[in-house]
Formats: sequence, C-alpha cells, structure tokens
Amino acid sequence: MRGDAIIDAERLTKRYGEIVAVDSVSFEVPEGEIFGLLGPNGAGKTTTIGILSCLVTPTAGSARICGIDVTKDSLGVRSKIGVVPQEIALYPTLSARDNLVFWGRMYGVPDHALKQRIEEILETVELSDRADSRIDTFSGGMKRRVNIAAGLLHRPSVLFLDEPTVGIDPQTRRSILELVVELNDHGLTVLYTTHYLEEAEFLCNRIGIMDEGKMLAIGTKEELTATIGATGVIAVSADGMDESIVGWLRSLDAVADAALVESELTINVIAGPNLLPALVEKLTSSGAAVHSVDVTVPNLESVFLHLTGKSLRDRDGSPAEGEPVGKKT
Ligand SMILES: Nc1ncnc2c1ncn2[C@@H]1O[C@H](COP(=O)(O)OP(=O)(O)OP(=O)(O)O)[C@@H](O)[C@H]1O
Ligand SMILES: [Mg+2]
Repeated sequence: MRGDAIIDAERLTKRYGEIVAVDSVSFEVPEGEIFGLLGPNGAGKTTTIGILSCLVTPTAGSARICGIDVTKDSLGVRSKIGVVPQEIALYPTLSARDNLVFWGRMYGVPDHALKQRIEEILETVELSDRADSRIDTFSGGMKRRVNIAAGLLHRPSVLFLDEPTVGIDPQTRRSILELVVELNDHGLTVLYTTHYLEEAEFLCNRIGIMDEGKMLAIGTKEELTATIGATGVIAVSADGMDESIVGWLRSLDAVADAALVESELTINVIAGPNLLPALVEKLTSSGAAVHSVDVTVPNLESVFLHLTGKSLRDRDGSPAEGEPVGKKT
C-alpha cells in the first residue's frame, strides 16, 4: 500500500469486449477525505466503484481498500466499505426499519447489535419518526436517505456514493449533501461520484475528472483550475449560434478553449485584450440572438472543457444557475 491511503487504485482497467469502461485509472484517497469522481455518462464512474467494491473483476490493475486487495479478499474489503448504489435498492412494501434489518444481516451485523445500530442510523439520516412507514410511502429523497443508512449499518471506514442526487429536487439535494458533510465530519472517508460540477466543487476535498474511461486530472478545485491557463470564463446564451463561432474563437490568442452546447457557448479566456466587444460584434453580425453574457472565474466546467473540448453541463438535471447546492457550515 502506498502511504496510508484508504483507497489505493493502481492502473485499474475494465474491458467489455471492445469497450474500455475503465482505462488504466489510478488514484489514492487518504483517510478523512471526500474524493469526487466527476464525469459525464459513460465516463466509467460506476464501473470504478464496482471494481473497488468487488462486484466487477478488473481486466488489469489492482486496488486496495484499507490495504486489503479487492481481488483477493472480497469479504475483508466488504467489511470496510459501505456502498450506496446508483439505483435505489429497497423493498417498497417493507418499512424503513425492516429494510435496514435486511441490509444489516446482509452486511453481517450481529443481531444483538443491529437494533441499536438501526436506531442510531435512523437518527443520523433524520428518519426516526418514519421508521415504521412503508418505503413506498416515502419521497424520493427519503428513499435515498434510507439507502445511505443501509450502507452505514456495519460502520464502514469508507462510503461509496454513486450519484446519490440524480433526479431529486434542490431541497432534497441539499439535505443529502449536508448529510455527507456531517458523516465526513465524524470521520467517514467518502468516494462520491457525480456529473454535477457544482456538487463536486461544494463537497469534495479533491476531485478526479473522468471521461471515456480515463482519469484526466486529479486535484483540488484550485489546483485543477490553475492548470488550464485561463483567467476568466465567458458564458453566452444565444439562439442561432453554430460551430463556426467556436472555430473563430479557437483561432484567437485570447481564447484557451471554447465549446458550444445547444444555445450555450462557453469560452475559457486567457489574460489579454478584452474579448467581449469583438465577440458581441461577431455574434450579432452572424445573426445570433444573444440572451445573456456572463463573465466568471474558471471553475470545474472550464477544466473539463480544457481537458476534453466538451461541456460537462447537463442542462436537464444540473442545479439551477447560481443556486447554492448546499450550505457549508
Ligand atoms: N456490464 C457491462 N457490459 C458492457 N458494457 C458496460 C457494462 N458496464 C458498463 N459498460 C460500459 O462501460 C462504460 C462506462 O460505464 P459506467 O456505468 O461505468 O459509466 P458511468 O460514469 O457510471 O456513467 P453514468 O453517469 O451514466 O452512470 C459505458 O460505455 C458502459 O456502456
Ligand atoms: Mg454510473
């Protein structure tokens, strides 16, 4: 094991026929960290979690959890990890408490300890008052919290959370993120996958950016944004833009990268002459109808654009622009 890493993945690779789902991915997560895997659909996040939780056998590479090899001692690894899968894994007709009894036994929690553990965990996820209600009477966010509770019953050292906020409302998203922060404050190491850059920025000490199976960069938000050589970001919302504007922008010395997704244009700008007047002129003369132009500092979206030439933003599910994704205390 290198250092005191709780998670130590070395050149992990998983192939499914022609598809390389995970392509020589390496990273380490020290104790106490919230580490984010940020990447779009198909990046390889779930497959990476699958390998680390002994559900998927790697084609090549190795990984250790608390020093235990995932391909050699799956029982040892499973005693150290809690897994909250992307899909909710609960029995709808059973109560929250009975679901937790089921999962506690699955995780090998001894019966004499289980009742007490379930009370504690229900308290942590703030569902004590609904413990005896059936899961099919719960909201989406409540189900997510029971799912998280199930992963915590055997007191793991590290919790894997695979996109736990997909398809839930902003308020519930906030409560899930705050729960993760609270668990981490109490010493839990967390591996958190998401394709929402706002969540990664809010939650994670360090972030690994994945795309098409590859780990493209790892660092803190500040480290990652410092690598892209841009000092500003211009975001344009306009109808009637096409790829020619991207080609023009990329030819300019003041532009590091540019990408167009539907009616949203994102430009990473290098320090230099102010680009805005020329940009607005170019857009209007090409017949585009500009709705808004925002100038901000680089963020993880800029980093993803820099690394892939693509935009990470998923307009349907992302938190609304400017909306705080959580509340850090
Ligand atoms: N069992 C499998 N058989 C074949 N291909 C697979 C299998 N599991 C994953 N893949 C492929 O591997 C790639 C990575 O998938 P993975 O589910 O790990 O991505 P992801 O980052 O979790 O994506 P999402 O954000 O959509 O959950 C995809 O191209 C996917 O189709
Ligand atoms: Mg996934």
